[in-house]
Amino acid sequence: MLTTTIDTQRLRLRGYRPKDFEPFWDIGHSDFEIARWLTGLSWPPLRSEAEATAQSALNADPAKDTFPFAIEHDGKLIGGVDVQKAGDLSEFPEIPTLGYWLSQAAQGHGYMLEACVAALHWGFAREASDSFAARVFATNYASQRVLKKLGFEPVGVCVRYAKPLKTNVENVIMHLPRDRFEALHGDAYVMMGAAQ
Ligand SMILES: CC(C)(COP(=O)(O)OP(=O)(O)OC[C@H]1O[C@@H](n2cnc3c(N)ncnc32)[C@H](O)[C@@H]1OP(=O)(O)O)[C@@H](O)C(=O)NCCC(=O)NCCS
Repeated sequence: MLTTTIDTQRLRLRGYRPKDFEPFWDIGHSDFEIARWLTGLSWPPLRSEAEATAQSALNADPAKDTFPFAIEHDGKLIGGVDVQKAGDLSEFPEIPTLGYWLSQAAQGHGYMLEACVAALHWGFAREASDSFAARVFATNYASQRVLKKLGFEPVGVCVRYAKPLKTNVENVIMHLPRDRFEALHGDAYVMMGAAQ
């Protein structure tokens, strides 16, 4: 069984806990500057929606479900990265995907790149799949930059209804072959080996 606690140079990735709910709501779900980039969140924000997300995070089985990691810095929640099971992206239904967010206060320090490298090592060690995919708004330049540094490349575009913006938005579909990720960031089994 893979661990669900991963320490990186500056961060700790771990499963969500019940006490994460209030900071999750304050710095993530109820901040429009975060929600606006995430397709599925209602705006104005709904506590019931956040509670449902938090509940499914608490119940997630790391062996087989979409697994949401909480990201901690200095013992405080600063964001999240979800290693999503295949099926989330209709254009690549057989490929697992990645989703993430970081509080505004924590942005600009390269934390998300560090967190995603660790989450992808974990994801590749868990998955039979030899690639990951991601979908990002065409105007989300910060996120596209993070994806490019991880080794993702654009492979297509699609349009999705963005619930918080109440309009259709052009998205870029990005693809990451495992061998490209490992050439840039190390072998997943080796990197996860010490943590198993
Ligand atoms: C995407 C997100 C996680 C990135 O956070 P971060 O890691 O702190 O990102 P940074 O501020 O370090 O920026 C990452 C890179 O993008 C660049 N960048 C940031 N804003 C940019 C902009 N408006 N235009 C061009 N490049 C930009 C930065 O210079 C940096 O590049 P570098 O690494 O070469 O220096 C964060 O912005 C976020 O949570 N946004 C809201 C939710 C979201 O968008 N989730 C992803 C959905 S696909």
